[in-house]
Amino acid sequence: MAELLIGQVLAYHGDPFVEGTGAARHMTRGGVLVEGGKIRATGAADDLRAAHPEARVHDYGQALISAGFVDAHVHFPQTAIIASWGKRLIDWLNSYTFPEETRFADPAYAAEIAGRYFDLALAHGTTSMCSYATIHPASVDAFFGEAQRRGLRAFAGRTCMDRNAPDGLRDTAQTAYDESRALLTKWHGVDRLSYVITPRFSPTSTPEQLSALGALWAENPSCLMQTHLSEQTDEIAWVKGLYPAARDYLDTYEMHGLLGTNGVYGHAIHLEPREKDRLREVGAALVHCPTSNTFIGSGIFDMAGLKAAGQVVGLATDTGGGSSFSMLRTMAAAYELGQLNGAALHPAQLWWLATQGSAQALRVADRIGNLAPGMEADIVVIDLASTPVIAQRAARAEDIWEAIFPTIMMGDDRAVAAVWIGGKQAVARAD
Ligand code: GUN
Ligand code: ZN
Repeated sequence: MAELLIGQVLAYHGDPFVEGTGAARHMTRGGVLVEGGKIRATGAADDLRAAHPEARVHDYGQALISAGFVDAHVHFPQTAIIASWGKRLIDWLNSYTFPEETRFADPAYAAEIAGRYFDLALAHGTTSMCSYATIHPASVDAFFGEAQRRGLRAFAGRTCMDRNAPDGLRDTAQTAYDESRALLTKWHGVDRLSYVITPRFSPTSTPEQLSALGALWAENPSCLMQTHLSEQTDEIAWVKGLYPAARDYLDTYEMHGLLGTNGVYGHAIHLEPREKDRLREVGAALVHCPTSNTFIGSGIFDMAGLKAAGQVVGLATDTGGGSSFSMLRTMAAAYELGQLNGAALHPAQLWWLATQGSAQALRVADRIGNLAPGMEADIVVIDLASTPVIAQRAARAEDIWEAIFPTIMMGDDRAVAAVWIGGKQAVARAD
């Protein structure tokens, strides 16, 4: 049965970092026709209603209908340790993250946290995500099992580490290859799921392990490869010591077959000119994780500069180094860091990053992250007056961007009125 969602509709036909707000298409009284899990049409609500009298109508009034949010870098196993106080990256990993990830040796715990993670992500309007799991294959099975049950387009991989990690979280080059390969074979391309080859980062892998995963990627080039890059200055100094022959941090990946178009590099804050050049030449994706960068004290990602230079950039929570599950809060943090960096990112750019930008980074922008005929029907409906503070500010708005910006800056899961996954309603907030 066809479903017709009516409200304010926001879609894009270009990149607002390139084309400005003209890249966006807003309809005050628009409609999105959904059938068979896909978007069949978008247009004026009245026209769609007249053309499709058989469709079941969901009238969301003044609420904003958008593509669902795409979180391009998250650690679902860190759900329970979000907002852990007082550490910077390496201490934070050793104090909070690694002990928590050790618990995923228990498949029942992995399943419990995967369920909790997806409940939270969906409640916040995130309809696709690219996650790190832990070293335990059961953590990957738990993630994909839950994502499959919910019909999500989701990405994840087994996080590989063979040094500088505690007992119980270390593998070897060979077991990393073997277990990643087995999970890839099991899950990659099943339903809407994609396996992602996942070396955690250069400090926790030997050169042998990076090479083994580089070989696995060469054998499976349709997979994404995700890792961390140049997040904190202490980390970069450590990488220099561990890989004395490398020209820079990116080279530790490049030397081992881990630089490519389907590479997704989280953080990428303190980049050298050569690293930027190589990333752009290759067309690899960078993922900005703003709430994490402030929370762990990492630094300021140069969004405006990197986008102007033509880099592929996505946006992400990086939960639990990030301090929120909300892509609204994540957009707000990106705005705040932009201000500190001398560039006020426009709401059209922030919203694009959280939808199309992240979908581009994950190489699925032709399928998710926008509202257009043929796209998969993953949709979020956002109440632009979800709290008294937001409502009184939005009431003064003179255009759609002024109406959206208070929700970007102050909104949370209370703003999420409905979520549709693959053409089916997954979250409906009862007012
Ligand atoms: N670098 C290596 N592992 C991690 C992680 O789990 N979170 C963040 N923020 N950075 C990392
Ligand atoms: Zn991360």
